[in-house]
Amino acid sequence: MTRRLGSGALVIATHNPGKLKEIAALLEPYGVKCISAGSLGLPEPAETGTTFAQNALLKARAAAEASGLAALADDSGLSVAALDGRPGVYTADWAERQWFEGPPGRDWYMAMGKVEGMLAEKGANVDRAAAFHCVLALAWPDGEHAIYEGRCDGSLTWPPRGTMGFGYDPVFVPVGSTLTFAEISPEQKHAISHRADAFARLVAEQFG
Ligand code: IMP
Repeated sequence: MTRRLGSGALVIATHNPGKLKEIAALLEPYGVKCISAGSLGLPEPAETGTTFAQNALLKARAAAEASGLAALADDSGLSVAALDGRPGVYTADWAERQWFEGPPGRDWYMAMGKVEGMLAEKGANVDRAAAFHCVLALAWPDGEHAIYEGRCDGSLTWPPRGTMGFGYDPVFVPVGSTLTFAEISPEQKHAISHRADAFARLVAEQFG
């Protein structure tokens, strides 16, 4: 049986204040007190895994070992069926500008264009199915861990549509909708997203 979180503090292994706020709000109803890895001065490990689960677990384990507390980490990204699951764990990297593409930073339109270019090379009848994945990993200082995998299936559209959301949202149309993730409200997205799916699984097992 999977170990359950006690009433102690939980380290959220992210240095992204937006993610910390979102996760803390989701866990607050269950009496979980969240502390960010950043506020404890914990280093961010390199994401050297080849799967979402490996990356989530290595981040959670590093935070649990360094803090002596239970830790939660997530890893997410987009998998495109016709591209053998790419960009996958490299979803954010595909947005990173090369020196000849402009100032350092991430360009999501460039990343969406890269995916579209690779699909276009496969011809007009290419399978446009894609899925967003989110994996949550819980780790305890003694090495025990639990993994919760969420996904949201859909297809890729072109050109990008909508101004809400972030990342690849403007080209992702979830199953059952005609609108992209960037054309629906954050509330509507959170009701069906890969992140919501993963959190529902965590909450069901940990607090159900
Ligand atoms: P990470 O989980 O912070 O490593 O993020 C992986 C990347 O996946 C993000 O930078 C986004 O580009 C992409 N991604 C993850 N979730 C979403 C989403 O809900 N919408 C759009 N892009 C997403």
